[in-house]
Amino acid sequence: MAKLKAILIGFGKIGSGYASDPLMARYFPYASHAQVLRDHPAFDWLAVIDPSSEARAAALRDWGIPIAVADISDLPATIAPDIVVLASPPESRTDNLKRFPSAKLAIVEKPLGRTAETSSRFIDSCHNLGIAVQVNLFRRAEETTRYLANGGMLERIGRPQAVFSVYGNGMRNNAVHMVDLFRMLCGEVTTAQALSAPRPLADGPIPGDIALAFALTTAEGTCCTFMPLDFAHYREVGMDIWGEQGRLEILQEGLLNRISPRQPHRALQNAMEIANDRHDLLPSRYGHALYNIYDNAVAFLEHQTPLASPGKSALVNEIILDAVTESAANGGILIRLDSN
Ligand SMILES: NC(=O)c1ccc[n+]([C@@H]2O[C@H](COP(=O)([O-])OP(=O)(O)OC[C@H]3O[C@@H](n4cnc5c(N)ncnc54)[C@H](O)[C@@H]3O)[C@@H](O)[C@H]2O)c1
Repeated sequence: MAKLKAILIGFGKIGSGYASDPLMARYFPYASHAQVLRDHPAFDWLAVIDPSSEARAAALRDWGIPIAVADISDLPATIAPDIVVLASPPESRTDNLKRFPSAKLAIVEKPLGRTAETSSRFIDSCHNLGIAVQVNLFRRAEETTRYLANGGMLERIGRPQAVFSVYGNGMRNNAVHMVDLFRMLCGEVTTAQALSAPRPLADGPIPGDIALAFALTTAEGTCCTFMPLDFAHYREVGMDIWGEQGRLEILQEGLLNRISPRQPHRALQNAMEIANDRHDLLPSRYGHALYNIYDNAVAFLEHQTPLASPGKSALVNEIILDAVTESAANGGILIRLDSN
């Protein structure tokens, strides 16, 4: 098979920067797009586009990329990528893709846009350009999460009764990952409701992002509350699922997954309990999930394997977050999401 020609637009932290963090490297061999493009044998990484001269210098010097330009118009006309990786902020992405008629697939960072409406326009534009979209909601490609979503969770803890999630640094930055995980594990969301007033984030990674408590419910009636944490104290983006036969905790941002079984109650006759002191650990492959996102993209292009994290699914998360925002603006009314 000929290698897939790839270009990377946006050479910031997720583009390449996280690769130079030694602490992250202990847990995330693939923390940035650059590491996957460098190592994955299916890709020929042709060029980097970034307006930052520092970023371009790093691409040429540290990664040996032959071409690094500030703007797409500076690229040699011969560059015809199969895959465009968009690790830049959302605004200019559609215009970027229009410049590459050869492109078959875009690997895109979340959020897709600043609102669900702009995100939806982006997905429509990609569709009209004939470009498939894989979004880096990496849990969709992580082995243990996939095992849990494909029946493993039901087998190990039974049907979910109560679900709790915590996130920080903003709804569009991190709650989006937990909304996506909740949909993966518990099913599609039919109602959304804000449980607190929104709090603006002064220095959040995504401009204009907010933090608030909210609840989502699935068609089967499973409810999850999402509570914001202030990362100034500590970080966590996690989920705690109490099933009918056990408990699943996804902690340390996915690096620690543990299952506590059900057993006869230690202190009461004729009752059961969750043995929280007797949990099993599930392996975490989070550090390879970004690599898997690319692997799956190759399988999609070569064998029509379904995309693990298609744009249309990622858009649903953003529609849900807009519904939460709408609920907050209207005193916490319940918003129905029948179109999901
Ligand atoms: N999937 C995840 O878990 C995850 C993690 C981190 C970041 N992200 C997302 O990735 C995107 C980038 O985040 P980051 O932390 O790397 O930000 P960053 O600020 O570190 O990097 C962004 C880079 O894009 C460049 N850029 C800006 N406009 C551009 C343009 N028009 N064309 C090309 N390059 C342009 C900037 O110069 C910068 O180098 C954001 O949308 C963010 O939400 C996702």
